[in-house]
This record gives sequence, C-alpha cells and structure tokens, in this order.
Amino acid sequence: MNTDIDLILNKAALEHFLTEKEILRLLELKDFSALTCAADSVRQKYLGDEVHLRALIEFSNYCGQNCVYCGLRRDNRVLERYRIEPDEIIELAKKAKSYGYKTIVLQSGEDRYYSVEKLVKIISEIKKSDMALTLRIGEKTYEEYKAFRDAGADRYLLRIETTDEELYAKYDPGMSLSNRKQCLENIKKLGYETGSGIIVGLPGQTLQSIAKDILYLKSIPVDMAGIGPFIYNPDTPVYCGKTQNLEFKTRLKEFEKNNFETSLKVMAVLRLLMPDINIPATTAMETLNPQGRIIALQSGANVVMPNATEGERRKQYAIYPGKICISDTPAKCSFCITNKIKSIGRTVSQHQGFHKKAINKEYI
Ligand code: 5AD
Ligand code: SF4
Ligand code: FES
Repeated sequence: MNTDIDLILNKAALEHFLTEKEILRLLELKDFSALTCAADSVRQKYLGDEVHLRALIEFSNYCGQNCVYCGLRRDNRVLERYRIEPDEIIELAKKAKSYGYKTIVLQSGEDRYYSVEKLVKIISEIKKSDMALTLRIGEKTYEEYKAFRDAGADRYLLRIETTDEELYAKYDPGMSLSNRKQCLENIKKLGYETGSGIIVGLPGQTLQSIAKDILYLKSIPVDMAGIGPFIYNPDTPVYCGKTQNLEFKTRLKEFEKNNFETSLKVMAVLRLLMPDINIPATTAMETLNPQGRIIALQSGANVVMPNATEGERRKQYAIYPGKICISDTPAKCSFCITNKIKSIGRTVSQHQGFHKKAINKEYI
C-alpha cells in the first residue's frame, strides 16, 4: 500500500510540481532515504552521471555588508583581509584551465575596490581562454551587471539566503529582500544563467519558510541552486555569548547534523521539482561531514566547486570555521575530487556544463 509519502514522491518525480504543504511533509521526514533515492533517480534520468567541476577563485575577503552569520562581515575585526590583484586573478584562472577545469567562478565579498573597469578587464581576459565564467560578487546595479555580461560573463550566483522577511531583516541588516529579488530579476533579464540558493538552519528559520524558499527558487526559475547548511562562526554575533554555554556546546554537533540533513532534503526536493538544473554539492556540506559532497551528489546534486585559490588566502576566506581544503593546492583538490567522483561511478564532465533544459519542458 502506498503511504502518503510515496504518493508525494511519485507525483514529484512525474509532474515536478508540489504544493507548499507537500514540500513541508518531505522536509519533515526523519527517515528520508526514499526522498534522496527519488532525487538521485531523477538526476540520473535527466542529467546522466556527469559531474561538472567549477574552479573557485576567492579573490577578496573584504565585504561591505554585515550579514550576521558570516565571517566576512565588515565588522569582523578578527579576520585578516586580502585582495588578489587583477593580473593574478587572471593567472589563477589560466592555471585552473591547465588542470582541466571548464568553468571559473570568481567569488568575493562585496568589495568596491574592484571597479567595473577592473572587473570588465578580468572578465574579458579570462573569456579569451574559452572558459565559462561565473560571477559571485554580490549585489550590483543593473548597469554593472550589464557591463559584466557584455564583457562575457556567462553566469551569476546570488543566493537569496531566505525569503522570510523577518529573518532577512534580522540576519542581513542594511540589506533588503526586495532589492535582492530585484537583483535576481535583473540578472535573469540580462541573460545570465541565474544561480541562487539558500542557507539552511539559521536559528529561527522554520521548515515552512524553507518550503516557501524552494517555491521561490522554482518561480524564478533558477538555472542553478546552491544550498548551504548554516555553520556557527564564533567570530560572528550569532554565536555571541554562547561559547561559555556548555549545553550549547554539546548540542552544537546535533544542531549541525540536523542542518546537514535538512540541506540534503532541500537539495533532493529541488531536484524533484527542477529536474534539469545544476545543483552543487557545496563545500559547507563537506565541512559538516567528511563524505558530505559525495552524499550530496547521491541526493540530487550534479556539480562540485573545488577551490582553485592558492596559499594562505584559502584559510582567510573564512565564512565559517572548519572549511575544507585550507592547506591544499589547486592541483591536489582537482586530483582529489576527480577520484572521489569516480569512486561512486560518476564521471567528470568534459563540457562547460551549461544548464541543459530538458526537451520535455512540461514541468516548468
Ligand atoms: N554558514 C554557512 N554558510 C554561510 N554563508 C555565510 N555565512 C555562513 C555560515 N556561517 C553562506 C551564505 C553566502 C555564502 C557566501 O556563504 O549563503 O551566500
Ligand atoms: Fe558579505 Fe556575502 Fe558574507 Fe553577507 S554573506 S557578509 S554579503 S560575504
Ligand atoms: Fe580539496 Fe579534496 S577537494 S583536498
């Protein structure tokens, strides 16, 4: 006999549509293996076994914003800041190409040091070497997004983080949800492959609000959705005062395990609802579980973003503690992730991995 969960999963796998209530039912599951299995099948059916690698260059950890949960926030005085000059960014991108990467992701805090002129130069230089280029540099004006697009940038990532007005106001002071949504609209309008996503497990965030986030991502609709479990950062106010609290310390592991599992469920639901989009197995997943990215790849994900930044900067790009690969080199990460992907019978794609919209678009 079918349980209501089986019915929901069958409906999702066939129609790629669920109501908020049905999504919530899935997110509430304690045993969610049927959910991740269904997502893995849908991933296989629509996208096959290829995993796309995106080389991540974290070129500046300065940020003008002050998101309460993030280690790069401007009021974090403990963090040692760095900037990589344009010529060196271009060099790093060329090196990444030599490791076989087909996409470069340029990522930074919101750092005004990089003027439109500087960024346009970086983008057009990197684009000369036939790589797909993704930007993840925060909120910009329509004109700025347009200049980057005209210079050749292919994709833009801007996580919505949460669509819950109250949470947004609490965690992203000085920013506005409506402006963030407008940025995503502009990005979409300019013809970028549009990436967004959420952070999962912020204190106060409910599963119902996450269900709404999922429907928002589908409504855009995004070409890529990155889901990151929230990890407490002792250098941020979210953590404030809690270091002395023993009960908090003992509950921390359990809390983070829960965030890891909820993130898996969110990825799986997204895969069911948007069967052909790109979903990365995020670095934060591997921070919480040594097999985190592999588990994510088996729960709906089809992309990994290995670090191609060099030296001390890896450690200094400290959004949260325990970040993986901080003492490794780009060559080591490329080798390591390729082996991990092969170990589960998947292959590393030799293509740039643009969002391949399914021929059968009925689900949209
Ligand atoms: N834990 C997990 N992810 C975080 N981010 C920021 N702070 C944290 C944290 N403490 C994520 C946000 C942001 C991206 C750069 O990192 O989702 O978009
Ligand atoms: Fe800056 Fe992004 Fe961190 Fe917010 S989440 S402080 S915008 S790097
Ligand atoms: Fe960096 Fe494994 S991906 S060492």
